[in-house]
Amino acid sequence: MAFYITTPLYYVNAEPHIGHAYTTVLADVLARYHKMGGGEAFFLTGTDEHGQKLADTAKKKGLSPLKFCDQMVEKFKELWEVLGIEYDDFIRTTEERHEKVVKAVLADLYQRGEIYRGEYDGWYCVPDERFWTEKDLVDGRCPDCGREVIKLSEPNYFFRMSAYQEWLVEYIGAHPDFILPPSRRNEVLGFLKKPLGDLCISRPKSRLGWGIELPFDPDYVCYVWFDALLNYISALGYLFDQERFTHLWPARYQLIGKDILTTHAVYWPIMLKAIGLDPPQTIIAHGWWLTGEEKMSKSLGNVVNPEDLANLYGTDSFRYFLIREMTLGQDANFTQEILVGRLNSDLANDLGNLESRLLKMVDGWWEGEIPEPGDYLEEDGELKGLAFQVAGRVEELVGKLKLDEAIEEIFRLVRATNRYLESTSPWRLYKEAKRERLGTVLYTGCEALRVASLLLSPVMPQTYAQIKERLGMEEEVAPCWDDARRWGLLVPGSKVRRGKPLFPRIKPPKQRVEELISWGEFKKIDLRIAQVVEADRVVGTDKLLRLKIDLGGELRQIVAGVGHRYSPKELVGKQIVVVANLQPATIKGIESQGMLLAATSGEDLVLIGPDGSIPPGAKVE
Ligand code: MSP
Repeated sequence: MAFYITTPLYYVNAEPHIGHAYTTVLADVLARYHKMGGGEAFFLTGTDEHGQKLADTAKKKGLSPLKFCDQMVEKFKELWEVLGIEYDDFIRTTEERHEKVVKAVLADLYQRGEIYRGEYDGWYCVPDERFWTEKDLVDGRCPDCGREVIKLSEPNYFFRMSAYQEWLVEYIGAHPDFILPPSRRNEVLGFLKKPLGDLCISRPKSRLGWGIELPFDPDYVCYVWFDALLNYISALGYLFDQERFTHLWPARYQLIGKDILTTHAVYWPIMLKAIGLDPPQTIIAHGWWLTGEEKMSKSLGNVVNPEDLANLYGTDSFRYFLIREMTLGQDANFTQEILVGRLNSDLANDLGNLESRLLKMVDGWWEGEIPEPGDYLEEDGELKGLAFQVAGRVEELVGKLKLDEAIEEIFRLVRATNRYLESTSPWRLYKEAKRERLGTVLYTGCEALRVASLLLSPVMPQTYAQIKERLGMEEEVAPCWDDARRWGLLVPGSKVRRGKPLFPRIKPPKQRVEELISWGEFKKIDLRIAQVVEADRVVGTDKLLRLKIDLGGELRQIVAGVGHRYSPKELVGKQIVVVANLQPATIKGIESQGMLLAATSGEDLVLIGPDGSIPPGAKVE
């Protein structure tokens, strides 16, 4: 049985964000770890392109829905490329191969009476495209998004979901790993304590035209969720390529965020049951990336662009951060301070430092070649034993989906190797010309680095390729668990290649991406050239000067803290830059109607002025 892993299909009505990046990197990492065991993996991602929201956004942009989707899909694909995602298939719900499966499933369910026509009477949230009963509403509003709902009474088509409630409860009970983590499993079981209604799977075309037409009624399109969920089997060629389909289904892991738990853990298994298919083996619901205490989302305006982050900090470093920082199932906090702290401590200080000091020593003291080890002493054997133990632990933790802990294990080995270099002191061995011992220590250090970087390779594939090359491993071998457990794969005599630091220390960002100002905000600041007409010291202070300035026909008075660097006399006649639309402030009893610009560095201060003569009042932009 192949290992089939999926991400949700992302809505293309908004740009990709860190939540999307996380799920997709996670799927990529799990698929790569799986391949380390020699098995086949099939990784599917894609985009969800139907529904009201999409049609509305496209309309606002003056584009047809499909044209708009075509543009947005590229942004997702581009991000996956930047993040080093190796998916095997990318499905769009507007593709023919998907639509034909959806139609075939709908036709079959309708024919077998699993879908029936009925009257819908209740409340409807237009932007969410969801039906609600009176008791679902919160203060008369949509319980999901809090927006207004409208009263609806119209004929629609329903899927007999309620008939499967008992089966689902039993199934979940008998399969503890069906929904992970257990807290989410309990949430679903809690939800299933209330009676489950039938699912309205149609939307009249009179209200919404952008969707897959029902094969048995051309006046309706399919509800976007019913359509989108089927991607997981349409992409495998369900009904049209049975051989391929049965090779890959049921999925090993279906990754989702906790907000789409009901659709995946209730609707989806019931849909599968109704068409005679097994549920996926495991649905994994991860938590949210938060900024402060809030979920990161487009509507909250606190989105961080993952592509910017990958470009700024490096693809592997960003992947590392995502997987290390989030405990699967729990929420995690994102700020650039946390990110930089993590990268500096783990990657620059620990891993990068280990690689650079080892290669420097091999380069300088062993003619740039992997040394031949001599007899192993106890301390060498201990490190070797630890590497073996860590490889086993990592494989076990990955199997339990504890990726953050698996990474922690790998760094236990990295840190132990750094300590080993401290305690064996190769610099002393070199000085004392203890050549054989030096060779053994350097070889042992390099092997430990090889094992650590190999274990980390699904998370940081480019880094592994670099470290391998630097350690003189030329052979193109796919990373595998066996090689992590074997000691001595580095061949003495191979040429090492020193390079630039893999992870230079990053200065904490002065300005976080989420704090950047927009062009519009910048344009609000009215910067002008002014000429100083008069200047005197504010009595009783060393620093403050009162300046009278000409702003192009308008005279103003400002108070500036530059008296410790400039005398009043040298300022008269000077051209400076001022913020002309600053709210007046009273400083030491004198009104200041603006502010001059100066550059500072420590104690130094210089005024900013034009590089040539220009009339006062000229705009600075
Ligand atoms: N189109 C549906 C899924 C259909 S699957 C058949 C959808 N799309 S989405 O683009 O809105 O969300 C996709 C995924 O991103 C969801 O798993 C959601 O939980 C996840 N995230 C959205 N915001 C998130 C965070 N702030 N943090 C982590 N993931 C979050 O829902």
